[in-house]
Amino acid sequence: MNTVTIDRIGAYKLTDAKAPMIDPFGRAVTYLRVSVTDRCDFRCTYCMAENMTFLPKKDLLTLEELNRLCSAFIAKGVRKLRLTGGEPLVRKNVMFLVRELGKHVHAGTLDELTLTTNGSQLSKFAAELADCGVRRINVSLDTLDPEKFKQITRWGELSKVMEGIDAAQAAGIHVKINAVALKGFNDTEIPAMMRWAHGRGMDLTLIETMPMGEIDEDRTDHYMPLSEMRDTLAQQFSFSDIPYKTGGPARYLQVAETGGRLGLITPMTHNFCESCNRVRLTCTGTLYMCLGQNDAADLRTPLRASDDDAYLSSVIDEAITRKPKGHDFIIDRTRNKPAVARHMSVTGG
Ligand code: 5AD
Ligand code: SF4
Repeated sequence: MNTVTIDRIGAYKLTDAKAPMIDPFGRAVTYLRVSVTDRCDFRCTYCMAENMTFLPKKDLLTLEELNRLCSAFIAKGVRKLRLTGGEPLVRKNVMFLVRELGKHVHAGTLDELTLTTNGSQLSKFAAELADCGVRRINVSLDTLDPEKFKQITRWGELSKVMEGIDAAQAAGIHVKINAVALKGFNDTEIPAMMRWAHGRGMDLTLIETMPMGEIDEDRTDHYMPLSEMRDTLAQQFSFSDIPYKTGGPARYLQVAETGGRLGLITPMTHNFCESCNRVRLTCTGTLYMCLGQNDAADLRTPLRASDDDAYLSSVIDEAITRKPKGHDFIIDRTRNKPAVARHMSVTGG
């Protein structure tokens, strides 16, 4: 019997009597993020180059294989699962996977099934997502200005995303807005975005740009430390730090003026690794133990080697023993290279 101490396993529910995977630093790995495709119908300038080379389609796991992999993780104590991309809703027939995984939510073997999406396809899928057991989603949205939206996403249409958010809320899904804070692009717009999001009952979370993958511009030009952003916003808003947690890396502030919450994801200015409970799976079956490191484990080979999950399970256990303490992202002009070569769209946010 695997013994774990309560203080180390945080929100993990002992009622399920399944000992979670514990990494060498005592962190329970209870959260799996799955990038179901590295493709996207947008080309956000901080995320992708305009001309991207995507993973060869022949290397993709089938949705059945992804389902089997996710279920193996759930059997090993994962309680929260997030589908990301790229844009998860552009993967053909992705709702098959959502429906299969939703069964774990209905059965109580998974606390939460959620999605990070750019919202472009959401008006089409919102009702079905809700039906499958998706109760919360994150929508990535960096500006409320249609022109600027076109500029930052290169290919996106703001009105489609707005329709998607409407549809999700109408279906009873809680929406959180994620915005990457970009100096000289949306920094002055954040107060308006806060009022808009909070006015619609949505949390707003700001994210610092991370040096992942080659893009067509210099990230230092737009890098905005959120410590600085918080100080600027504090001239207009009264913040109080609150212990609210959603299982991810955001720290939350309650905003007195709007009655809403502002989340801060600060991989660059504040080390959030000490409470990391996550691992990331790509659509080709590669498991990354850290967003900011290159070490990975191939799960496709053990998955395909046998119909029995025992071998797969042992490979996952071995991978967890290699989960590093943290990342060391830096953005500066002297080291003008991404910290990791892969784009965020390979592993998801
Ligand atoms: N740094 C920070 N956030 C990024 N995202 C994509 N690329 C980057 C990056 N280099 C964000 C998207 C989305 C989430 C999946 O990650 O805007 O919100
Ligand atoms: Fe697509 Fe999200 Fe990357 Fe934008 S940030 S290109 S929406 S994956």
